Amino acid sequence: MSEPRVYGSSEMTYNDYLKVPELLNLQHRQSEPPHHDEMLFIIIHQAYELWFKLIIHELSSAMDHMKRLEVLRARHFVHRCVEILKVLVQQIHILETMQPVEFLQFRDRLTPASGFQSMQFRELEFLAGLKEPRYLQFFKNRPDLTAILQARLDGPDLRSTYYDMLRGLGHSVPENASDQERAGDAEAMEQIIQALIPLYRSPDSQLPLYLLTESLVELDQFMGLWREHHMRVVERVIGFKKGTGGSSGVEYLRSTTSKKAFPLIWEVRTHLSL
Ligand code: HEM
Repeated sequence: MSEPRVYGSSEMTYNDYLKVPELLNLQHRQSEPPHHDEMLFIIIHQAYELWFKLIIHELSSAMDHMKRLEVLRARHFVHRCVEILKVLVQQIHILETMQPVEFLQFRDRLTPASGFQSMQFRELEFLAGLKEPRYLQFFKNRPDLTAILQARLDGPDLRSTYYDMLRGLGHSVPENASDQERAGDAEAMEQIIQALIPLYRSPDSQLPLYLLTESLVELDQFMGLWREHHMRVVERVIGFKKGTGGSSGVEYLRSTTSKKAFPLIWEVRTHLSL
C-alpha cells in the first residue's frame, strides 16, 4: 500500500480547499434550550441555498452558450440543473421526519423570516424568465439585494436568450419575443408556437435543438414538482396556518404550482398533429 497522504504544512488540504471548518460553523440554533430538530431545519435550508447557487451558476453558462448558438453545450448545463432539481425535489421530504409539534416548539423563533426572503430562489425564477416585480417588496429594506434582483429583472433571461438563439438559428421567432409573450401578445405567441412545431414534428432533423428544448421543459417540470412537494410538506407540518412571511401559506403555495417559464413549449404539444 502506498504511503497515506497526511496533513502537510504547506500543501492544499481537503478542509482548506472546501472551507469545511467555516461551513460547519454556520449552524446556529435560535431556540433555547437548542431544539434538536432546529439543526435539521437550518441544514436543509442551507443545503438548498448551496444548490441554488450552483443552478444560477449553471444557467448563466447555459445562456452564454445559447448566445453563441452552441446548442449542445447549452443543453449540457441545463441538463445538469435538471439533475440537481431532481435531488431537490426528493430532499424536501426529509422534513416529514419532523413532527408538527416539534416544529411548533421553535417556529416562533423564525418569525418573520420566510422563504419569501430567499434571494437566490427569486434570482433563479427571474433568471429562468419568471419575472414578477411584486416579489421585490420582500427586500425593500435591503437596497443592495433589491439592486441585484432589479438587474435580474431588467437583464436577459433563459427564455429571452432561448428565443434569440432560435432566431439566430434561422427560426421565425419575433424580435423581443419573450417581452411580447409576457405582455400577452397573442399574435407573437402564435408565431412562436408555429416556429416550434416543425421541431416537434421531426425531432431527429434538429436533434441538438430538440434536446435543449426538452431540457428547458424538464427544468419547468422539476421546478413545478419542487413547488408541489414543498407545498405538501408544508401542509403536513403546519396545515393551513399562515406563513411566517405573511402569506396564506398552503393556499398561496398552491397558486404557484402552475408557474412555467416556458409555457409555449408546453403548449406546442397541444397543437401537434401528424
Ligand atoms: C417545515 C418546513 C417548511 C415550512 C413549514 C415552510 C413554509 C413555507 C410557507 C408557509 C411559505 C409561504 C410564504 C410565507 O408566508 O412564509 C414558504 C415559502 C417558501 N419556502 Fe418554505 N417551508 C418549509 C421548508 C422550506 C425549505 C426546506 C425550503 C428550501 C429552500 C423552502 C423554501 C421556500 C421558498 C423559496 C419559498 C418561496 C416560494 C414562492 O414564493 O414561490 N421552504 N414556505
